Amino acid sequence: MSNSIKVFSPSTVANVGCGYDVLGFALDGIGEEMIVTELSDDKMVIIENEKFDLPLNPDKNVASVAAKALLEAAGIKKGYSFAFNKTIHPGSGMGTSASSSAGAVFAVNELIGRPFNTHQLVEFAMEGEKMLSGKAHADNVAPNLLGGFTLVRAYGPLDVLKLPTPENLYVAIVHPQVVVKTSDAKRMLKQTVKLEKAVAQWGNVGGLVSGLYESDYSLIGRSMEDHIVEPIRKLLIPLYDEVKAKAVEVGAIGCSIAGSGPSIFAFAEGKETAEKVKASMQEIYDEVGILAYTYLSKIGTEGVRVL
Ligand code: HSE
Repeated sequence: MSNSIKVFSPSTVANVGCGYDVLGFALDGIGEEMIVTELSDDKMVIIENEKFDLPLNPDKNVASVAAKALLEAAGIKKGYSFAFNKTIHPGSGMGTSASSSAGAVFAVNELIGRPFNTHQLVEFAMEGEKMLSGKAHADNVAPNLLGGFTLVRAYGPLDVLKLPTPENLYVAIVHPQVVVKTSDAKRMLKQTVKLEKAVAQWGNVGGLVSGLYESDYSLIGRSMEDHIVEPIRKLLIPLYDEVKAKAVEVGAIGCSIAGSGPSIFAFAEGKETAEKVKASMQEIYDEVGILAYTYLSKIGTEGVRVL
C-alpha cells in the first residue's frame, strides 16, 4: 500500500440561507488539493504553504486535529505530513477549513485501509471545526465528504442526510476582501429566538428540502430566506443588501451569506443567468473599490476524492 495520497476536497457553502448549522452543499471543481504522507514516526507535520499563512502547529491546524481524532478512534499511532494547495482564501465563508479537515480524514482513512465509512469521517472532520470555531458543526464537512446537498437532521447522535441536486442549479459567489472569523460570527448571534421567527425559519427549511426534491427553483428561492442569522451577520459584510438586491434583480432565485461570511452566494437556474448574477455582484464592489473575488459553479455532486 502506498504511503502517500493526493486528494481533492471541494469548497462548500454552509447554512444555505435558512439552515444555520444544518444545511450545506459542495461546489463543483472549486476547492483544494492535499498531499498526505505517512511519516516514520508518530508526529504530525504541516508543510508550510507558499500562498497562505496556515497554522504550522499540529494542535492548531484543522487537518492534523481531525486526523488525530480518527487515528485515536482507530487505535493507531502514526504520524503524517499535510501539504495544501489552496485556491480559496481562508476566512472566506466557503468552508476552507472544512475542506482541510475533511480532506485530511478522508486521506488518512484511505492510507490505513478504510476502516471508517463516510458518515463516521464526518464526525472526525467536525473535530477540526470545533477546534477552530468552538463548536463541532457539520454543515460544511458533511457536503465535503458526501458531495451535493446535505442536511444535518440531528447532532446528538449525528444524523446526516444527503439531499438531491437539481440538474440546472448554479451558484454565483462573491468574496469581498474583509475578514470574518467564524468564532466571532458565531459569538455575535443571539442564543434565543422568538417563536414567530422559528416558525418562519422551519417552514423555510422544509420548503427548501422539498424544493430540492422537486427541482422546484422558485420554491428553493423563496425558502432560502433567513429570519434569524442573516439580519445580524449581514452587518459584517459591506454592501450586503445592495449585492443581494442586485443579484435578485438580474435573475437570482435567492441570495444569502455563505457560511459565516463574508462571501455572499446566490442561486440561479441555468449558467447564463448565474453568469449575469456573478457579474452584477462583482460590479457592486468594483464601483466602490473593494477588492472582491467571484466564483461560478454547479453544485458539486461528488465529495472528497483521490486524484
Ligand atoms: N454554520 C456555520 C456558521 C458555518 O454559520 O457559523 C461556518 O462555516
